[in-house]
Amino acid sequence: MALDIGIDLGTSNTTVFVKGKGIVLSEPTCVAVNLNSGKPVAVGTAAERLIGRTPESIQIVRPVRGGAIADFEIAEFLLKYFLSKSLGLGARFGNVKMLLSVHTDVTEVEQLAVLEAAKSAFGKTTRIKPRLIESPLVAAIGAGLPFTEDGAEGSMIIDVGGGTTEVAVISMGSIIAGDSVKVGGENFDVQTSGFIKNEHNLLIGEKTAETVKIKTGTVFPKGEEKYSDISGRDMLSGLPGNVRISSSELIDAYKDSAIQIIDCAKRVLDGLPPEISADIIRNGITMCGGGSLLSGLTEFMRTETNVPVRVAEGAQYCVAEGLGRCLRDPALRRLINTNRNSG
Ligand SMILES: Nc1ncnc2c1ncn2[C@@H]1O[C@H](COP(=O)(O)OP(=O)(O)OP(=O)(O)O)[C@@H](O)[C@H]1O
Ligand SMILES: [Mg+2]
Repeated sequence: MALDIGIDLGTSNTTVFVKGKGIVLSEPTCVAVNLNSGKPVAVGTAAERLIGRTPESIQIVRPVRGGAIADFEIAEFLLKYFLSKSLGLGARFGNVKMLLSVHTDVTEVEQLAVLEAAKSAFGKTTRIKPRLIESPLVAAIGAGLPFTEDGAEGSMIIDVGGGTTEVAVISMGSIIAGDSVKVGGENFDVQTSGFIKNEHNLLIGEKTAETVKIKTGTVFPKGEEKYSDISGRDMLSGLPGNVRISSSELIDAYKDSAIQIIDCAKRVLDGLPPEISADIIRNGITMCGGGSLLSGLTEFMRTETNVPVRVAEGAQYCVAEGLGRCLRDPALRRLINTNRNSG
């Protein structure tokens, strides 16, 4: 049996696309490991549910950091598990065409690690044709930006992931300018818990911090104040405690990370050929990745760059959808392949 598959192994989430089916799986890139036996006890969504609730003998491992594999064995296990879950346990494939997205700043050694981990998820008898694609290219395709060899109109994509923000300007199916910064949605989680700890003496867990960020956090004043009632451990009494925090309190805590994302975009905008700058002013900036959904980020970006900004539909799945389009469209694959060989 043949299989055409695209895998986005992200810092926060892994998404699998299968030609003919669409996105078949999207789960957190984490594994719960029993430290005594060294064996994984839960993977993906099931492992994420355990965060902050495990005994000391269980550790939650995030095998991907900043878009690169930090723990090869666990990454390999996670991919094997996700593939057998989404393709059917014991499914055998003769030929597999596999597209993998990788961040542009990932080294060749790190790229090889992603390839090896993905290949090893299949049996030895499977013939695998793997190909790595730079994620801003597939993000742009998945976000529906113009992507043809003769499409000389410039467009800009900003993918704010869990651990990385990648900015790219694309023209004629190539990245003509780009930059990235190791700041993404997870930084705002850390700042949420840091702020609540420092200002309110309350310790909260990773998942609570993310929930507060999504519900209440913002990086730009929008005139509408939101509140979260948060429970955690009071640092002074050691007992369970509650605080109420508002979105405007979090703006300050988020400022540095938000500015790093915006400065990365400004560095790319600065020095573009004038015609491309004009295209981008006309077409606007498209943002994608789960981190782009943070409240106020598009408004902040628009204010700081003077360029219209929109969030792509299905922002968190643009890379996987882009991989899917490449699987379906051989012309697109050829174009991307030409890019890789030439640069
Ligand atoms: N509605 C939302 N508001 C704010 N942040 C959100 C929202 N939904 C998801 N996120 C954040 O998006 C981030 C994950 O995004 P995504 O899945 O694109 O990352 P990733 O691809 O795994 O990471 P990377 O591309 O950096 O390797 C998380 O930090 C998550 O908290
Ligand atoms: Mg990503």
